[in-house]
Amino acid sequence: MTELRPVKDIDAKPAKATPTLPDAQTVTEVEHYTDRLFRFRCTRPASLRFRSGEFVMIGLMDDPDPATGKVKPLLRAYSIASPSWDDELEFYSIKVPNGPLTSKLQHIQPGDEVILRPKPVGTLVHDALLPGKRIWFFATGTGIAPFASLLRDPQTYSDYDEVILTHTCREVGELTYGARLIESIRSDELLAELIGEGFHEKLRYYPTTTREESPKMGRITDLMRSGEVFRDLGVEPLCPQNDRAMVCGNLAFNLEIKAMLEEYGLREGANSQPAEYVVEKAFLD
Ligand SMILES: Cc1cc2nc3c(=O)[nH]c(=O)nc-3n(C[C@H](O)[C@H](O)[C@H](O)COP(=O)(O)OP(=O)(O)OC[C@H]3O[C@@H](n4cnc5c(N)ncnc54)[C@H](O)[C@@H]3O)c2cc1C
Ligand SMILES: NC(=O)c1ccc[n+]([C@@H]2O[C@H](COP(=O)([O-])OP(=O)(O)OC[C@H]3O[C@@H](n4cnc5c(N)ncnc54)[C@H](OP(=O)(O)O)[C@@H]3O)[C@@H](O)[C@H]2O)c1
Repeated sequence: MTELRPVKDIDAKPAKATPTLPDAQTVTEVEHYTDRLFRFRCTRPASLRFRSGEFVMIGLMDDPDPATGKVKPLLRAYSIASPSWDDELEFYSIKVPNGPLTSKLQHIQPGDEVILRPKPVGTLVHDALLPGKRIWFFATGTGIAPFASLLRDPQTYSDYDEVILTHTCREVGELTYGARLIESIRSDELLAELIGEGFHEKLRYYPTTTREESPKMGRITDLMRSGEVFRDLGVEPLCPQNDRAMVCGNLAFNLEIKAMLEEYGLREGANSQPAEYVVEKAFLD
């Protein structure tokens, strides 16, 4: 296990003054999908309780301050992608070329340590929605992360008759994490029993790409406006009596789909006031 130390110095000997924080967790697995996307798993503090769909602050120690030599944590918001029952934590991450955190985080290896502030929060939780028959998870890019947690939570299938994940990315390779997630859910003994099989299967997966050829092209918002997504899935358009929705993507996507959901008659909910849909940004623009 390596010690927490300044990220630029990752292969050098740890400086004596570098603290190992009480919030450090050990990386157990790393998987890269494209030059922009990877996931990793790490240990979970025994005391960490969270609701599937919430996010926490994670990070690494920053470079020492040139003036004082002091090091402090460099933290960013991350959705927990693993479900609340999992012994470990999973995160699905972008690699921003010059991003302060992810230009370093993308190089982590099993045995390294990451910092995790154990204060989970967020609106993409079952508690923020009123009971319904069908739930839509609308994601773009890394916005799929909170749904990777919710899709592995048995409560999702006990609360709803139908669960639909839409995931829109620019390129085909960016769908890999979601496609493997769906496969793993369908082959998990417990979850497979909850979602059922064939015609009766509760889980529907609707991946689309916008800039590379794939079986289904187009932004999900355009596919909803044209009615194509409803025809493809053989379902009625959304209505406030039956449908609930959670949205996580870039700001423009969130705003566009929010306006569409309002047009369908759904109202935005919150932890303090559950309603028919909830939204969270996948990153700050
Ligand atoms: C509530 C919340 C939850 C988040 N959950 C995740 C998550 O699960 N996984 C994740 O990878 N990021 C997530 N983020 C974004 C994350 O906090 C960081 O912005 C990201 O890790 C990049 O950090 P950075 O320091 O390298 O670059 P930053 O300085 O933070 O970002 C630089 C620029 O990169 C772009 N960018 C940042 N994050 C993303 C992204 N995820 N997808 C596409 N472009 C991006 C934006 O244009 C941003 O201005 C979340 C953000 C919020 C607000
Ligand atoms: N993905 C890449 O290959 C790539 C490569 C280099 C740099 N970047 C940079 O990284 C940042 C994030 O890229 P990203 O691809 O992860 O995320 P993104 O730009 O948020 O795009 C993710 C998906 O959301 C779609 N989308 C965007 N706005 C939408 C809206 N209003 N309604 C419906 N769908 C919408 C995009 O479609 P459209 O394609 O139609 O916009 C794309 O399919 C960007 O600043 C980008 O310039 C990305």
